[in-house]
Amino acid sequence: METTLSQKQIAELIEAATEARHRAYAPYSHFLVGAALLGADGKTYVGCNVENASFGLTLCAERAAVANAIAQGCRNFCALAVVSETDNGPATPCGACRQVLAEFSPSLTIICARESGSVRILALNDLLPELFYFNDR
Ligand code: THU
Repeated sequence: METTLSQKQIAELIEAATEARHRAYAPYSHFLVGAALLGADGKTYVGCNVENASFGLTLCAERAAVANAIAQGCRNFCALAVVSETDNGPATPCGACRQVLAEFSPSLTIICARESGSVRILALNDLLPELFYFNDR
């Protein structure tokens, strides 16, 4: 996908997401995920996945980053980097996270990266077409 982000911005977001990934709490799946949201305010808000012995309570890295940003007063985002490590291509955000991200920034640019290297840049518009909104939003 075309993006207006600079290579420096992309590299910095991936770096922030990678650092957050190293703090992930994933003793059950061992699948560590880090996320970094670039706010319209120019600040970066990170999150990581937080698992629980009651598996369904697990929080994804992307939604942790959204909660972090909202709590700090930022509600508009330019881009998200999500970093994990997979055998195949870089992992994309799960369906629930796509819906939560779209609540705030439906045209978000999403940078999906493997910590070991490969990067894909996608548009949330493409990942979640025909999204659900209330009329009066
Ligand atoms: N996970 C994320 O953090 N983000 C996603 O978009 C998909 C999955 C986490 C949840 C769980 O801790 C682990 O990855 C395996 O599903």
